[in-house]
Amino acid sequence: MRFEEVYGHPPAGVWSAPGRVNLIGEHTDYNDGYVLPYALPQRTTVAAAPVPVPEWTVWSAYAEQRKPVRFGEADLVPGRVTGWAGYVAGVVWALRAGRFPVPGARLAVTSDIPAGAGLSSSAALACAVLTALADLAGLTERDLPLADRPVLAQRAERDYVGVPCGIMDQSAALLTRPGHALFLDCRSGEIAQILFDPPAAGLALLVLDTGVRHRLVGGEYAARRTTCQQAAAALGVAALRDASLPDLVRLADPVTRRRARHVITESQRVLDTVALLRAGRIREIGPLLSASHASLRDDFEVTTPELDLAAATAEAAGARGARMTGAGFGGCVIALVEAPAAESVTAAVASAFTARHLPVPGSLLP
Ligand code: GLA
Repeated sequence: MRFEEVYGHPPAGVWSAPGRVNLIGEHTDYNDGYVLPYALPQRTTVAAAPVPVPEWTVWSAYAEQRKPVRFGEADLVPGRVTGWAGYVAGVVWALRAGRFPVPGARLAVTSDIPAGAGLSSSAALACAVLTALADLAGLTERDLPLADRPVLAQRAERDYVGVPCGIMDQSAALLTRPGHALFLDCRSGEIAQILFDPPAAGLALLVLDTGVRHRLVGGEYAARRTTCQQAAAALGVAALRDASLPDLVRLADPVTRRRARHVITESQRVLDTVALLRAGRIREIGPLLSASHASLRDDFEVTTPELDLAAATAEAAGARGARMTGAGFGGCVIALVEAPAAESVTAAVASAFTARHLPVPGSLLP
């Protein structure tokens, strides 16, 4: 259903934001570390038109009821609007809290980013709505610079909806250029566009969705954040970004030590990956991807048996490297393969899953 069919008149415009895959740098953003996501072709699209009253009506193709949700100024209190519409209310709230004007609006949302697959469908929603509302309000990039927008979308998600996310997903949705991965220093906010074009090198980056949707992801994610903060406090540093491997002996608790080790080694793997990509040595990033998965499995403990199976099978079938991507506890695995091997690696993963009576992972890219 399109905007016209829902509201009976055309929209003033159409805006969109992509989902993302994180190439490497997992659970580093909230430790002031480095990340390297890139944008997917899959996007969330928002058609919108202003209305003369401070009231917002949102329709989504994915809402269970398929009925528009309406909220007004009284609902611009964190947590008041729940479910997917909460992301929209959160963006209105975050813009207003930043003293930006926001007109009332009618919005219609569609998306081809699978939800809950760790591909940042929620950040894409928040970022598409943010771009739409900023444009409807007449805000130019001078009024609200692109570089300042990820923080506003993050506030919507973190402070209004209540998901304790970092800054990676919103930055990826708003700042990534086609054919590039976004190298982001999550402390300084500094970015660099890193050429990342597997097909040009005769490679393919597979994205395989295990279909596992972990409902406890919020609680586990928050727990990892807390442990990282505790580790930083115990080491007397502002964030784990400031710690190095020799410091780990000062952490008495073995679990905390492993969590911190993941963050420290993962940030270094991002730097190593960026160095290889800048040197045009894309094939050589494979082992770093695999090392990242092992660290997320053994030290950070956020993988699932399905993610481990997909990554290990892809590697055994010839992938140069494979890893889970996103927060973990389900979702997708990425695998860097020689282009001619894309099909056989995908098929090997499918048969490993079938042999264990698990649903065959969906493939997001050919
Ligand atoms: C989720 C969060 C991000 C990041 C990743 C893990 O996607 O939204 O901020 O922390 O998990 O790397």
